[in-house]
Amino acid sequence: YSLKKYNTFGIDASASRFIAVHSVTQLAEVLKEHHDEKLFILGGGSNMLLARYIDALVIHTDIKGKEVVWQNDETVHIKAMAGENWHEFVLYCIDNGYGGIENLSLIPGNVGTTPIQNIGAYGTEIKDTMVSCEAMDIATQETVTFTNADCEFGYRESVFKGKFKNKYVITSVTFGLTKTAHKINVSYGDIAAELVKHNIVTPTLKEVSNAITAIRQSKLPDPKELGNSGSFFKNPIITIEEFERIYLLHPTMPHYTLDDTYVKVPAGWLIEQAGFKGKRFGDAGVHAKQALVLVNYGNATSEELLSLARKIQETVFNTFGIKIEAEVNIV
Ligand code: EPU
Repeated sequence: YSLKKYNTFGIDASASRFIAVHSVTQLAEVLKEHHDEKLFILGGGSNMLLARYIDALVIHTDIKGKEVVWQNDETVHIKAMAGENWHEFVLYCIDNGYGGIENLSLIPGNVGTTPIQNIGAYGTEIKDTMVSCEAMDIATQETVTFTNADCEFGYRESVFKGKFKNKYVITSVTFGLTKTAHKINVSYGDIAAELVKHNIVTPTLKEVSNAITAIRQSKLPDPKELGNSGSFFKNPIITIEEFERIYLLHPTMPHYTLDDTYVKVPAGWLIEQAGFKGKRFGDAGVHAKQALVLVNYGNATSEELLSLARKIQETVFNTFGIKIEAEVNIV
């Protein structure tokens, strides 16, 4: 069964068997029936690099639906099922005047995957608005509610990537959004400049979303046209001592001080300096406009992309002494 259209990297992976589930009840039935088999849960496929052959039963969570579960005059709690397309959900919230996730516009993938790696962009992360999520225990088919604190969110991290990896399937996510007094955040990078271009002084949710969409479209490849998984690596976090040592040798290195101990360095810059931006090796390449993104020009295999990723990691390490880690899930 071909998984090519189920992963944004466009890897021509195949699986021995495939089932798409459309409801929570159906998910429970399928998990129960196949409990003694090797299973692989596939949501939007936007943050993974698939091997050529997946020797497992692939369960694709295609559960749709969204509803307001609670509200007062200022706040709304809206629950979205795992299979809802993330960007369409963001636009739906904006159209209804619900604020809080507009900075996460145009991120590929589905709602159910967003807590796993605490998706983030332009100064906002899922952890800032997620109230809770529901997940089904693969072994018992019991539905468990995780509060925001239960998820132990960090930078592109959560319990679903850590201690509970492969234990749960996220079935829905509930967000707490503002109906009034929206906290517009346009402090990151190019957003303010993008708004100025359009003479916008006090932007609406929609205008923030449009600005971010324009910025993303200008540097990130559209997975429909060029296979990719967004940032392939995480931005490395290093200690201030380490940073100071490297900074003496590379005084143009951009950096963000996180606290008294740690500094975050953009991996895209490190990769560009290491000479990889825009480079192509067969069908695997480094995007010309954003070096943090690896791309599949057509028929790249996971082996080719991984070998490119390793080459980048080695060169960055030899040049700067900094280790960069993959952000995408390597299957
Ligand atoms: N940079 C370069 N060369 C490049 C790319 C970036 O020098 O080729 C420098 C830029 O000049 C800038 C800095 O790196 O100073 C940061 O670049 P950018 O604003 O494009 O963001 P990023 O740190 O590369 C992160 C997230 C993105 C998110 C953007 C915007 C990670 C791993 N990536 O990228 O998330 O959209 O910030 O908030 O944290 C994703 O996770 O898939 C993703 C796309």
